Parts: sequence; C-alpha cells; structure tokens
Amino acid sequence: MIPQSFIDDLLYRLDITDVVGRYVQLKAAGANLQGLCPFHNEKSPSFTVSPSKQFYHCFGCGAHGNAVGFVMEHLGMTFPEAVESLAGNLGIDVPHEKGMDVPAEVRSEREELVELLTRAANYYKAQLKKSPLAIDYLKNRGLTGQVAARYGMGYAPDTYQNLETVVDNYASNTQLDLAGLTKMSDSNRRYDAFRGRIMFPIRNAKGQVIGFGGRVLGDEKPKYLNSPETPVFSKGHEVYGLFEARQAIHKMGYALVTEGYMDVVALAQWGFENAVATLGTAVTPDHVLKLFKQTDRLVFAFDGDGAGQKAAWRALLACLPHVSENKRADFIFLPAEHDPDSFIRTEGPDGFEAMVAQAASLSEYLTRYLERNYPLQQIEGSAAAISFLKPLIVQMQPTVYRSSLLRALANLLGATPMELSRHLGLKSREGGGDYFSPKNKGQFQGKKFGKYKDEPLQNNWGPRPTAKSPLLSLAARVIRAPQLVNLCDSLLALYEREEKPALEVHSFVHLLEKVRNDPNLLEARLQHAFNDETHQNWVNSVLKEARSLDDSLDFETELRSGVYQCSELWFKDELERLTEAMPTQGEQLRWYHECMQRFQELKQKRVNQL
Ligand code: UTP
Ligand code: MN
Repeated sequence: MIPQSFIDDLLYRLDITDVVGRYVQLKAAGANLQGLCPFHNEKSPSFTVSPSKQFYHCFGCGAHGNAVGFVMEHLGMTFPEAVESLAGNLGIDVPHEKGMDVPAEVRSEREELVELLTRAANYYKAQLKKSPLAIDYLKNRGLTGQVAARYGMGYAPDTYQNLETVVDNYASNTQLDLAGLTKMSDSNRRYDAFRGRIMFPIRNAKGQVIGFGGRVLGDEKPKYLNSPETPVFSKGHEVYGLFEARQAIHKMGYALVTEGYMDVVALAQWGFENAVATLGTAVTPDHVLKLFKQTDRLVFAFDGDGAGQKAAWRALLACLPHVSENKRADFIFLPAEHDPDSFIRTEGPDGFEAMVAQAASLSEYLTRYLERNYPLQQIEGSAAAISFLKPLIVQMQPTVYRSSLLRALANLLGATPMELSRHLGLKSREGGGDYFSPKNKGQFQGKKFGKYKDEPLQNNWGPRPTAKSPLLSLAARVIRAPQLVNLCDSLLALYEREEKPALEVHSFVHLLEKVRNDPNLLEARLQHAFNDETHQNWVNSVLKEARSLDDSLDFETELRSGVYQCSELWFKDELERLTEAMPTQGEQLRWYHECMQRFQELKQKRVNQL
C-alpha cells in the first residue's frame, strides 16, 4: 500500500493542468481550462479541467477524476503505476507501507530486473555508437541516428560475456538469467543471450525497459531473438513501440499496427511515429484493448504475403469483441512483395499515406472475405457463410455498429436482418440488450441502474424493457441458481452503504433476502411474494428473464460476472458522487482512492473474463 499521506502530498505538489496538458490541448475558459475529451470522440470541447479543484470532468461522457485518475484512465495504468509515474515525473520516490498487494520481495525483484535491463540497454546503446558494422547496417536500411535514439536502439557485440561490464558479479549473478539476458552453458559458465545483434529495447507503459528483441546483421537464424517470458515481460500483452508512439497516436488520431520491429522504426523514420508492433505473436484481444485505450482507430498494416494475410485475419478476429461505432479497425493490404518497412522505403510517405486513406474497414474486409471464400449466389454458399459467421458475430458487443454490420451482411447473404440474427443465434432482436448471452458474458451496454438520490420513482425496467438492467439480469440468475446466492454478498455489502438506495436496489435486496431464507421458494409464490406493487413488478420481470435463460449456462460464472458488473457500476456511481463532493482530504479522499482502485480492478476482472 502507498501511504495516503504520500498521495495527498503528491496531489498537492502536482498541477492537474500540467498532467492533462501533456496529452490534451487545453484552452482557458473562464476559471477553467477546456479541450477535446480524450475519452470519447468529439468535435467541440466538453472536457473541462479545474485548476482550483484539481479535477477534470467531461460533460460529454461523464469521465472525471483527479490527476492520478487521469493517468490511470488515459494511459491504462493501475493505481500504483499511475502514482509511481507521476511521482517519477517530479523526481520523488514512492514509499510503501507493509501489506501491499505485491509482496516486497516480488516488487524489489522486479525493480532489480528492470534495473539490470536498463543497464544492459544503455550498454548496448553505447556499443552501437562504437560499431561501424552495426551503424552501416542501420544506414543501409535507411535509418538515421535520430530514429535509433528515439527507440533506444543498440548493438550487442558478437562476444560471449559482453555484459560483464555492466555488473560486478557477472559469473555469479543469477538475476541476469532471470532477466533473460544470459544463459548457462553446459560447462556451467554464464554467457550473453544476445550476441552480434541489433538490439531493440521493449518498454512498458512507464517507459521502463522490460525486454529486448535482437536482429542478426546477416542471414543467420534465428533472424530475431526475443527476451523470454520473465517476471517483468510477457509477450502476449506487450506492444512494441507503444510507449514511444503514444503522443503521435493522439496527434494523428490512430495507431498503425504492424508485425515487425523494423516496420515500426522505418515507419517512424518516415513520419509515421504512431506505429507499433506485436512481438512475433498474433494480435490478441488483449492487444486490441490496450491499443483502443489510446485511440479510437487502429489501422493494421501487415506484410503483403500469405502469412501477412493470415495475420490480418487473426487481427480482425481479435478486434471483434472491441469494435463499435466509436472504436474502428481498418486494414491495409500491401502488395505481396512488401512489408510496411520496404513499402515506405520504395513508395515514400505519400505512398503509404495513400494506403492508409484507402484502408478497408473491418466490415469491408469481412464482406470481401466472405465473397472470396463462399459462393454466395448459391443457397449452399450463403448457408455455409452464415454458419461460419456465427462464432464471429456472437463475440461482438450489441452495439449500433453490430446492427449496421448485420444489416449489411444480411443484404450480402440474401436474408433479412431479422432472419440473420435468428440464424446467428442472437437472442435479442438488434437494439435490445443481450448482455448475458452465453458467449457474451458480462458485456454491458445499457444504462446504469440508479443514482441513489431522490429520484422520482421511475421504472427503469419499464413495461417493455428495451435495455435490460444488469441488476435484473443478475437477479434472474440468482433465481435459477439460488444455492449460489452467497456470491452476491460483496455486492450487498456495497448496497448496504446506501442511505437511500434506488428502488431497483431495494427490490433486489428484498428478493435476495427471500431467496436466502427459502432457497426452494417456488416461482409461483415469488410471483405474489411482495405486498408492494413496484417490487412485485420488478420481480415479475426478473422471473420472466429467469425463465428465458438457457439451462446450459454456467451459472456460477454468470453470477460472478454479474456481481463484478454491478459492483463496477456501483463504484462508478460512487466515484461520480465523490467527484461532485470534491473530497480534498482525510477519510473521504482515502475512500475515493479505494473506490478508484477497486473500480479499476473490477473493470480488469470483467475484461479478463471475456
Ligand atoms: P519478419 O520475418 O517479417 O521480419 O518478422 P521483419 O520484421 O520484416 O524484419 P526484417 O525487415 O527482415 O528485419 C516479423 C516479426 O516477427 C518476429 C519479430 O518480432 C519480427 O519483427 N520474429 C521474426 C521473431 O520473433 N523471430 C524470428 O526469427 C523472425
Ligand atoms: Mn522487413
């Protein structure tokens, strides 16, 4: 745990306008500053930063918080990471109290590894300056010293114990092995893993070196060597060049996603500093989520060969769970003999810009793919295409975008949109909510369920529920699996904090009480269990939903994700309330930070469940 006094002090020393100003262009507007909201797409500024209150607030999307919250949201960091990074900017060390979530040994081990990797990176950088061979290689590939410096590129000389110069105890230093920098020979001698290679340091969100990619200068194999998985480096999650690209991504409004280290540096060399790469792995939904935290548009630019095409298709699949009307993915198809690096070197930045401008949207790509692979004029062809589409479409969130895509696909396949959604097994008609359809666990698109204030007693659920409330969905699952009712305890503990819970919360708490007292309570009795008509109406909607649920659902998972989702919403509302109250010190502020941390954790849990 980071002591609250430290956080108070940090917030006092920071100016939120500086912190936000690094990423958002702000203009004075009265006592406040204004700019375009980085958290949603907008043309006129509704994002406000208050220097006196040290908070930001967006009137468009409701994003709000203090400097720490901004860094968390904007850079996708956890609470401790954000505090570390802000403190780092001011040159202060973050003290830690006992009882922190990461055990002290683990933390200091990570720090130790990062320190070793940083030393190695500095060493490799210095060696590059001294190696005409390596410099020539990079020059021949059209790179300047500037771009090499921007990416901290280096050179590992072709000898076995280079890193002896960076640590005193090379022969006995097992941490070097753990960092992936060295290995043990059969004769039990330590030697460098990277030799005779151009070195690309891989940085995390904080800019710390966490691993390397190294390329041979000639044709030896393997062409690239990557750091192994270590306590600080995990290939499937990291994106090469993201730290360096972040500002350009914001400025240019999109991220260019490639497959190779060289693609990234070459694109940057030619003005596309918004390029990033996966690390020799296929694009994962995790990568996509990470990138969509930075921008609303991804442009994938893969090699023009068959492998590149496969990679593009994998990228499309990875995008499906995350695309929406606000988050788009486009695809560049380079000529077969090119990768982005060779393309931009032969065709120049204008040629590449033209490719970006003509990039196929996800829907175009998908349509084209179907047309190429299925004889859609024949019934057999379109039927096969529909069954091919099914597992793809169910991964998508029920957004306006999905509806539009379905309409276009229906047209292509000679069906009505309604028929197509039925064939695809989408339970609700488009426009309705199907948050809990089996393949779509925990997604949330609807409206939050209550504000806990003196709101008029509106029926959020209404006579014809259009967007199902998550609380109602959760209740329906409890009805179907009453023996698991205890899974809701943590959520109930949150609701207990409410002085004036929203009506729906009230009904939920009542219903759970009844179920807990009598798990075998018959549906028929539940239908008349409440004297109060408003409770009863809601419970009847719950029963209706419960009846419509498929037996094959894994109710335990369903319940857990429902609890996460409702808790997340609760914290979101609580944070909103706290922001309005503007806590600046003491217990309230501590609670604010706790809420923020728990909110982020829940969000993460939900994402991990997808
Ligand atoms: P490519 O083989 O397409 O190389 O690998 P490239 O990026 O065009 O590199 P140059 O232009 O020949 O220098 C693409 C990516 O796949 C991973 C690396 O991340 C590389 O950037 N890879 C490739 C490896 O990890 N190991 C290899 O042996 C080859
Ligand atoms: Mn290449």
